[in-house]
Amino acid sequence: MSMNLLEIENLKTYFFTEAGVVKALDGVTFNVEKGCTIGLVGESGSGKSVTAQSVLRIVPRPGRIVGGKILFNGEDILAKKESEMRSYRGKKISLIFQDPTSSLNPVFTIGNQLSDIVMQHNRVKKDEAAEAVVKALKLVKLPDPEEALTRYPHQFSGGMKQRICIARALLLNPDLLFADEPTTNLDVTIQAQIIALLVDLQKNIGLTLVMITHDMGIVTQMCKCVVVLYAGKVMEIGSIEKIFEMPHPYTEALLKAVPRLDQTRKLISIPGNIPNLIEPPSGCRFHPRCQYAVERCKEEVPPLQDVGGGHMISCHRWRELNGG
Ligand SMILES: Nc1ncnc2c1ncn2[C@@H]1O[C@H](COP(=O)(O)OP(=O)(O)OP(=O)(O)O)[C@@H](O)[C@H]1O
Ligand code: SF4
Ligand SMILES: [Mg+2]
Repeated sequence: MSMNLLEIENLKTYFFTEAGVVKALDGVTFNVEKGCTIGLVGESGSGKSVTAQSVLRIVPRPGRIVGGKILFNGEDILAKKESEMRSYRGKKISLIFQDPTSSLNPVFTIGNQLSDIVMQHNRVKKDEAAEAVVKALKLVKLPDPEEALTRYPHQFSGGMKQRICIARALLLNPDLLFADEPTTNLDVTIQAQIIALLVDLQKNIGLTLVMITHDMGIVTQMCKCVVVLYAGKVMEIGSIEKIFEMPHPYTEALLKAVPRLDQTRKLISIPGNIPNLIEPPSGCRFHPRCQYAVERCKEEVPPLQDVGGGHMISCHRWRELNGG
C-alpha cells in the first residue's frame, strides 16, 4: 500500500481564453504523504490555486484539465463521474480559502449554513446536524460555540470567521485539506493563531494538509516537505532541511523574499516579472530572472530529477552550483 494519499502526475490544466491558451499547470508532478503537511509555494500566478481546483475538479471555465493523472487513495480522480466527485468534495477532500468574509453567506446564521452542509451529505436530523456543527466549532476553539450558531458572519472578526471556515471545511471529516493562503487577509497576531490552530488540528486529527502560500516563513513553521511551483512547473520538491541547505535557484530567490514580521508585511520581490503563460519562456521558465542562467537554460527544459534522498530539482546547473 502506498504511503501517499495524493499522487499527481504530469498534470496539465489549461485556460482556453480569447487571448490564447494559458498553460496554468504544464506537467505538474508531486505526491502528498498521508498524515503530512506539505507546503505548496510559489509567487502569484504560479498555479497553486489551480492545483487545488484541479484535485477537487472545480477548475472554473474556460479552464480544463487536459492531461495527467490524479490519484487519491489510489483512486483515479479524473475518471470519476461528477456525481461521485460531489460526494468527495468536503467529505474526502476539503478546501479553505483566503478570504473568509466572501466565503460565508451573509444572510444565513452560522448554525443554518453549516448544518445544511451536514444534512446534505449525511442523513441526519436538524438537531444532530447542529451537534456536529458545535463539535467542529469546538475543534477550532471558537468561543461560545452554541451561541455562535445563532449569529451571522458579520458579527465575527476576521480571525473568528476564518476559524468558522476551517470548522466548515472539517465538518465532514475529510482526509485531505487544502488551505489556500488562509491567513493572507489577517493581521500578524491573528495569522499566528490560525497557523497554530492548523498545526494542532493536523496533529490531533491526523489530517493531511496542503498549505498553499507564497510566504516561506509560514512554510518553515508548518511543513516538513515543500513543493515549489513556478509558472506552472515544479521547480523543486524536498524536505525543509534540503531546500534550505541546497535550494533550487528559484527557491533561493523566494527564501530571500521572506517577509520580516517586525516590518510592514511587504515581500522583498524577486527582480523581473512573472512570465506570460500563453507564451512561456523557452527552456527553463525561470531563465529570464535567474542569476545563474546560461545559454543552455534558454534552449533545454530541465527535467525534474532526484538529486538524492527524495530531493527533486529541475535545473541544469544545480549540481555544479552545489559543488557536484
Ligand atoms: N479563470 C481563469 N481564467 C484564465 N486564466 C486563469 C484563470 N484562473 C487562473 N488563471 C491563470 O492560471 C495561472 C495560475 O493561477 P493561480 O490562481 O493558480 O495562481 P496562484 O499561484 O494561486 O497565485 P496567487 O498567489 O495569486 O493566488 C495564472 O497565470 C492565472 O492567470
Ligand atoms: S536551469 Fe538555468 S535558468 Fe533555470 S534555474 Fe537552473 S540555472 Fe537558472
Ligand atoms: Mg491562489
